[in-house]
Amino acid sequence: MTARRATRLTAGLLVGFALVATTAAVRAAPESDDPRLLIDLPADVRQTFLEHMRTHMTTLDQVLQLVGGGRVKEAGVLARKEMAIGQGLGIGRHMPAEFREMSFAFHRAADDFARVTQTVADPPDAAGWKALMTGIAAITTQCAGCHGAFRVR
Ligand code: HEC
Repeated sequence: MTARRATRLTAGLLVGFALVATTAAVRAAPESDDPRLLIDLPADVRQTFLEHMRTHMTTLDQVLQLVGGGRVKEAGVLARKEMAIGQGLGIGRHMPAEFREMSFAFHRAADDFARVTQTVADPPDAAGWKALMTGIAAITTQCAGCHGAFRVR
């Protein structure tokens, strides 16, 4: 091996090491800084789960649109149908107990909100609006709480 080739080889190796070190750091940092518990799901279950999550966002939006439009009872019916009742997708059995508990709390909050929509006056009075907003906030607290605790990727 000539001296020049040896130098080039050493330089190449150094660059290689630097790259490996950088890549490892980039990969490790988000994982070690991320306090959320990673739930390792089979790929197809993860996809179904995330699709289902996106429907929650859509439902929440529709519920808010309905409430804002004064169609409170419809909002309750939708919240119950889409959020209070599990959709039977078979995801729960892949989840840790803590996740399932948060999931139940979420369903309960949606069910409580649905019940509030049936008890408020039509149109709602000031106390009614407050009860509706508190009910929706109890749902979003569950979204936020679970998102802060778990991740699937
Ligand atoms: C019991 C736990 C739990 C509850 C309750 C929950 N989520 Fe999620 N959601 C998750 C997890 C876990 C993820 C995946 C996060 C990750 O891996 O980064 C997620 C992801 C999502 C995503 C991203 C989907 C995608 O395709 O990337 C949306 C949107 C979402 N949730 C909306 C909601 C909304 C809106 C609510 C409440 C109405 C809600 N979620 C309630 C656990 C929950």
